[in-house]
Amino acid sequence: MITAIGQDIKQAVGVLKGGGLVAIPTETVYGLAANAFDPEAVLRIFQVKERPAFDPLIVHVRDRSQVDKVAYMTPWAGELIERFWPGPLTLVLPKRTEIPDIVTSGLNTVGVRMPAHPMTQGLLQAAGTPLAAPSANPFGYVSPTTARHVEDQLGGKIPYILDGGPCTVGVESTIIGEEDGRIVLYRAGGVAVEAIEAVLGPVNAATRKVMPAAPGMLESHYAPRKPLLVGDVAELLHVHRAKRCAVIAFDRRYDAWRCETLSANGDLTEAARKLFAVIRDLDAGDADLIIAERFPEHGLGRAINDRLRRAAVKRRSW
Ligand code: TXA
Ligand code: MG
Repeated sequence: MITAIGQDIKQAVGVLKGGGLVAIPTETVYGLAANAFDPEAVLRIFQVKERPAFDPLIVHVRDRSQVDKVAYMTPWAGELIERFWPGPLTLVLPKRTEIPDIVTSGLNTVGVRMPAHPMTQGLLQAAGTPLAAPSANPFGYVSPTTARHVEDQLGGKIPYILDGGPCTVGVESTIIGEEDGRIVLYRAGGVAVEAIEAVLGPVNAATRKVMPAAPGMLESHYAPRKPLLVGDVAELLHVHRAKRCAVIAFDRRYDAWRCETLSANGDLTEAARKLFAVIRDLDAGDADLIIAERFPEHGLGRAINDRLRRAAVKRRSW
């Protein structure tokens, strides 16, 4: 299959109407989209990503009113939508039966979000249907933040990539839901948890696991091929002094074989925007090992630390 890259919303709609997949730009990361009401098209997402069937997808909607086609609203969801949509926030809500089970991996809830990227908003308008879309990377790998990243990994497997430029947030959406009447966090992401707590009060850790535990595999996510270690950089550089070490640092420089400082003026939003592209770049380079600093555990730092921790989980192939 030849993969076209462009900005033609009509072409993208044509692909989606025919049951095909389109990679779409969002403010967080690029997504791999299908018509959320077409189970065969959604199955193709799982096949192309080699994603296990028990990992549910997020449904992207045009506006608040389209949520009613997909899910049942709750008062807390209304408050968050008011404050944060369009934007990097996914709400886990009771699912309507019209949404095929393959989208939610059989769960009775569905993740819904309204993306802020104008090109994808145009696509959602023109397509007239919600789009199921996970991040547009092979399962377990770092999410793409440019059309080129998508092409590098899914080129030849999908017909069309909508190129909306580099993603401005750079980490996936924050995912919020409700368990036994409590507001819970399923994933730290592009909206700081503190900002959500300012609206709803304390947010709890989720107790229910979305995906079944499979040791050594599912925790390992957002992972480069090269080993990645997180911790005290100076100490790790010393331990691995015989190797070519590439460092991912927040706002300072380390004297290493290579060092990428994500934000010289200490801006966590800028650091999040750059994180995945830097991981990809270092993974493609000549280093033996990637060493990352721990970021401040507030604001977008929580999402950055979460992705680094998962990227650092050892896989069996190492
Ligand atoms: O920013 C984003 O959220 C991006 C862009 C493309 O929108 N999408 C994204 O999708 O990151 P994905 O598939 O890589 O991550 C979706 C995650 C699932 O792995 C799961 O953890 C959570 O969303 N999720 C989806 N449905 C859920 C549900 N019903 N309950 C709890 N978690 C759910
Ligand atoms: Mg993903």
